[in-house]
Amino acid sequence: MATSVDAPVNAAARLEYDPLNPVVKHEPYPYYTELRANEPVKWLPSLQAYGVARYDDVKALLSDGRLFSSSMFWPALLGEYDPVPEVPPMISMDPPGHVHLRKLANKAFVPAKIKALMERTREVAHELIDDIIAKHGTEGEIDWTWDFCSLYPVTVIAQVLGVPLARRAEFKVWVDNLLSAANRAAYDEERLAVIRESSDKVRRFFEDLYDERAANLQDDLISDFIQAEIGGERMTRLEVIQMSILLLIGGVETTTNLLGTTLIELHRHPETYARVRKDPSLIPALLEEVLRYNPPVQIIFRHTMADTELGGVHIPAGSTVMPLLASANRDETKFANPEVFDIDRKIEVPLMSFGQGPHFCLGSYLSRMEAKSALEIAFERFEVLEPVSDEVEWLDSYFARGPHHLKVRFKVR
Ligand code: HEM
Repeated sequence: MATSVDAPVNAAARLEYDPLNPVVKHEPYPYYTELRANEPVKWLPSLQAYGVARYDDVKALLSDGRLFSSSMFWPALLGEYDPVPEVPPMISMDPPGHVHLRKLANKAFVPAKIKALMERTREVAHELIDDIIAKHGTEGEIDWTWDFCSLYPVTVIAQVLGVPLARRAEFKVWVDNLLSAANRAAYDEERLAVIRESSDKVRRFFEDLYDERAANLQDDLISDFIQAEIGGERMTRLEVIQMSILLLIGGVETTTNLLGTTLIELHRHPETYARVRKDPSLIPALLEEVLRYNPPVQIIFRHTMADTELGGVHIPAGSTVMPLLASANRDETKFANPEVFDIDRKIEVPLMSFGQGPHFCLGSYLSRMEAKSALEIAFERFEVLEPVSDEVEWLDSYFARGPHHLKVRFKVR
């Protein structure tokens, strides 16, 4: 059902897309529309990179891991704050090395393994809601972002990995600090020292955990990684540690943001909210539409290995290219009325929200399952769960999208 549209693009005043402009970060969608129409491959001086806005171009470049290399992903994101600089994580590897690690890691993420986790994710959601009630009573106001959305995925992934629950808040702080390294050029020494400390702590933590598990295997992911074998080859100690850190980084903020944005879209589309409340079987369709319409990862990065051409634009070897995933999801040649939030739409092509091609998100089943369980339980336990304001303070990021804070009124049943 079509319920509302974003503000239309002002055709008279051409919008200049600069991902670092605060106005763009707050509401990038009109700029993506303009790019798709007029400048689908655009040089972005502020980031010294080419932005790619149309679905077909995004898909083509993500499918070609040899020409559009991932090798600069981690260095661009973390730079000298990479906790394990000796080995790249698979998200920053190209074929054939990537394929080998991916096969090993895949074993831990097959749908049957994720299904087995479902009961535990439901318990985590109940426990967090119990904590909210213990702290705030049966009605009042909470920060949905911190009190639920942030703690939930980090608790799930900590458990999957085999990390003691008592350390989950520390974990969340490490991940946030590591991710903030993307803005390191703008930080002073004090802030950089905090990132350094988190980077060192996360490494030490996983070194110790690896050694404990290697001596005494358990039923957790680190133990699975230690034992996983393909063609007689296993992951090295540092590869297991780097993989664990990648999962921590990849699995925490993304799912947190998906849950935060979902509540915002429900608030903006009250008819949809009423329908989903009445019929929780609509939750998966709701999540797919949030993933399309306002995805947690807006942009990723590639690096050209040779001169090439995309959308009629010449791109020299050694350039940074940024597929604008969130723009591809609103490409009018692939999605009917793309600016309309519509949980009944028939999605006929793959969304770009989890990427595409060899690096397609390893956690897509897990995050969909986690988000579904969380919403089912939140709607079951809260009679009221409603943002108090129409204004949203989005994260100050051009590639991650989700609310920084989201004050909501709640009342338990
Ligand atoms: C809504 C939630 C999520 C979103 C939107 C998301 C998005 C993405 C995207 C766009 C990529 C592709 C990166 C690229 O091509 O360079 C990716 C890769 C990846 N994601 Fe996710 N992700 C989510 C949840 C998770 C979770 C829960 C985990 C793990 C626990 C995870 C682990 C990974 C890993 C390991 C990769 C790298 C795969 C590879 O290099 O082969 N993600 N994700």
